[in-house]
Amino acid sequence: MPIDRARGTLEDVMRSVSPALRGALALTLGLGGCAWDAPMSTVAPRSDLARDILHVYGIITWIAVAIALIVGITLAWVIVRFRDRPGAPRMPPQTRGHTALEIGWTIAPAIVLLVIAIPTIQVIFRTQAAPARDALEIRVLGRQWWWEFRYPKLEVVTANELHVPAGRPVALTLDGPDVIHSFWVPVLGGKRDVVPGRLNRLTFTAEVPGEYRGQCAEFCGASHANMGMRVIVDAPDAFARWVAAQKADPAEPAAGPAADGKAIFARSACVGCHTIRGVSGGLLGPDLTTFGSRRTLAAGLLPITVDTVAAWLKDPSTLKPDAKMPALGLTDAQARAIATYLIGLK
Ligand code: CUA
Repeated sequence: MPIDRARGTLEDVMRSVSPALRGALALTLGLGGCAWDAPMSTVAPRSDLARDILHVYGIITWIAVAIALIVGITLAWVIVRFRDRPGAPRMPPQTRGHTALEIGWTIAPAIVLLVIAIPTIQVIFRTQAAPARDALEIRVLGRQWWWEFRYPKLEVVTANELHVPAGRPVALTLDGPDVIHSFWVPVLGGKRDVVPGRLNRLTFTAEVPGEYRGQCAEFCGASHANMGMRVIVDAPDAFARWVAAQKADPAEPAAGPAADGKAIFARSACVGCHTIRGVSGGLLGPDLTTFGSRRTLAAGLLPITVDTVAAWLKDPSTLKPDAKMPALGLTDAQARAIATYLIGLK
């Protein structure tokens, strides 16, 4: 349809809709963005960093609301007061060079900016300060399209699910080997860009145990939208148990599909990209030593089950466009055997 006609049709449709219905449609669209239990809300902070950012956000929002009210009410008053009426002069009285007004609207915005700037600068300094001495160091690597998390002091490496202890500061160092990504877990804070060749930092203390969703927030290629993550905030003893489990050597799989899966894994191209401690040492893809301890597959794309893992192994690019992992031409039985093996790695 030619653009002119399409526009005409749209205008006809809009004209035929009553103002009340138009208002209802706009309200519905607006309210569509609201939710009580939104997993990625920036207004439900669960860390000191997110709370600090929300504090600044609140100040700016209320100031903006006050300014919008002042401007809106003044505008409405002017429209009503100086509207065209029979016998009214063609031009309302014109004022030029009103000293008090000029000074007023120079000083007022300056005060507004000052009120915004002081807490903003305070929070910038606080969030950029050197991490506490007892902070847990974690190296975050953003990769197309998954996240690697390394705990250098604990000698733990994992992917896509970041475990942190509640109540203890964590000091993230962000970097990546390929393109720019952005680490963002709304309820815990962020965003912080992950820039190749540059070390960015992010420090926060998670307050409440739970599972929090995160997402790469910088367009980084075909599967940017599929570059999710989870942060699992553990109570301190649960975190210690998780670390111990991550460090333990993987158990030998039981005879049957799991043992078959291990054998297929060990003789296929998998070993070139993935590490499983004691089996392989590839570094291009996620470390799979404790794959079965994770809740999701492929950067939060799917829950981990034999079916989903086998489907992923057979054809990664169908589930995640442009995935770097190639399809290896596995049969159904081979894919299910490897899936069973990997899920047993806890
Ligand atoms: Cu990584 Cu977007």
